[in-house]
Amino acid sequence: MKVLFATGNPGKLREVQAIFAPLGFDIEQLVDEYPEIQADTLEEVVSEGLKWLWERHKIPIIIDDSGLFIEALAGFPGVYSAYVFKTLGCKGILKQMEDLDNRRAEFRCCAGYVDANGHIILKTGNSQGIIIHEKRGSGGFGYDPIFMPDEFSQTFAELDMESKNQISHRGRAFEELASTLKE
Ligand code: IMP
Repeated sequence: MKVLFATGNPGKLREVQAIFAPLGFDIEQLVDEYPEIQADTLEEVVSEGLKWLWERHKIPIIIDDSGLFIEALAGFPGVYSAYVFKTLGCKGILKQMEDLDNRRAEFRCCAGYVDANGHIILKTGNSQGIIIHEKRGSGGFGYDPIFMPDEFSQTFAELDMESKNQISHRGRAFEELASTLKE
């Protein structure tokens, strides 16, 4: 079954294609920038994005919204993760955390699917870990070089994509979505 993934992020596209391929889903990129509303939760952003895309296309589409929630910064950058990454980057986060001992952080992802009739399914996933003190690794994208998942001694940027998908927020959210769709 072919499903379109509306994203401009090639890193996300690769990860999601790898999750869905063994289940017989062929994920293709839909290049259509939907409005990301300013909201308190990832679920609201995804739900509104899917409604907007469905009005325009009326075909099965998936999207995701994700963010990095840092405990010592009261959840910052959270739902502002994309803007903060564009403006401050990993360097800016490391600077903010320079003197902080509490390095706990969590990635969260909401994966959403709308079918041709406008019916929406949302699934969430998260991944716990710490923010290390300097960037490490060249794989992945975004905040991957500064996030080390629990029980690993490598950052997301040092893991291969398959290993990242097994424990990542996106991997977990899309695995659930894929198995629901498979039913
Ligand atoms: P969005 O889901 O595209 O809004 O992403 C929010 C921000 O978090 C962007 O700057 C992404 O690069 C970053 N981000 C989302 N998922 C990941 C990930 O798996 N690893 C690292 N950064 C991520």
